[in-house]
Amino acid sequence: MTTYAITGTTGKFGQAALKTLVSLVPASDIIALARNTEKAAAIVPTGVSVRKGDYTDQVSLTASLQGVDKLLFISSQPGAEVSREQQHANVVAAAKDAGVKYIAYTSFPDTPHATTPLALDHAFTEQAIIDAGITHSFLRNNWYLENELSTIDGSIAGNPFVYAAGDGKAGWSLESNYAEAAAKVLANDQPKDIYEFSGNLITYADLADAVKSVSGKEFEVISTDDQSYTNGLKAAGLDDDTAELVTMFQTLIHDGNLNVPSTDLADILGRPLNSVADELKSII
Ligand SMILES: NC(=O)c1ccc[n+]([C@@H]2O[C@H](COP(=O)([O-])OP(=O)(O)OC[C@H]3O[C@@H](n4cnc5c(N)ncnc54)[C@H](OP(=O)(O)O)[C@@H]3O)[C@@H](O)[C@H]2O)c1
Repeated sequence: MTTYAITGTTGKFGQAALKTLVSLVPASDIIALARNTEKAAAIVPTGVSVRKGDYTDQVSLTASLQGVDKLLFISSQPGAEVSREQQHANVVAAAKDAGVKYIAYTSFPDTPHATTPLALDHAFTEQAIIDAGITHSFLRNNWYLENELSTIDGSIAGNPFVYAAGDGKAGWSLESNYAEAAAKVLANDQPKDIYEFSGNLITYADLADAVKSVSGKEFEVISTDDQSYTNGLKAAGLDDDTAELVTMFQTLIHDGNLNVPSTDLADILGRPLNSVADELKSII
């Protein structure tokens, strides 16, 4: 028998990954880790057990990971009181101490060559897993299509579709696709070390065209520079730090950080990828 665990199971990714995993392995072999166990217990699929899993608490993580063979480690969010690096170091150390045999970790596209500061925590975590000597798969997820929802909804409502990434390409796909793929890798007997999971690579101009065709709305599309983009965000009410962070997402696409061609996502899902227009239909 193999025992599986997934972190962050009260989140969208964790929920979607659990949904797929219970279709692949017995629910009784799955442990849902969550920092809020009550919240998790109310929403996990029947038969899945729940244990405490707070990235800031290495001791209880070590206890919760006892008996776990394969762990899907969903990356935490930056900006918390305890740094993401420290949170991730805790998870890896706990997995090692508990004797976890395999970790699938949700990482950043082509991490070793990424130039954006956003990839640093992921490079750190990949290295920590390697240093711990734990067999692994790095699930280097490209961008969730849902990241663009405020721009998409805004343009459908009549605002301009503004971007600063120029002709940079991203591989947008629905978050649920990445989560389904993650669960399929976890259940796989012979997973690869590295998966570059990505939707079809397109530009913001292509995305805007797809939004127009799916919504039937016409709106202005403006390609601008970083400074004007940041100013626009501040004028819209974002604080300085958030405006800088959101601009960084544009810069990293402009600089090619997400332009990583791969067929891994379709290969693991076992079906061809939908066009971005088809994927938009489920979130607009
Ligand atoms: N590639 C991309 O485009 C992209 C975009 C966005 C995010 N991401 C990554 O994907 C991850 C999952 O996204 P999501 O949509 O599932 O986010 P989400 O719905 O906001 O869920 C975040 C999850 O992380 C949990 N969490 C937060 N701090 C924690 C801690 N200290 N210990 C344990 N669990 C903690 C939350 O628990 P509570 O329910 O208790 O709050 C929740 O379960 C993100 O964390 C981020 O690393 C990638």
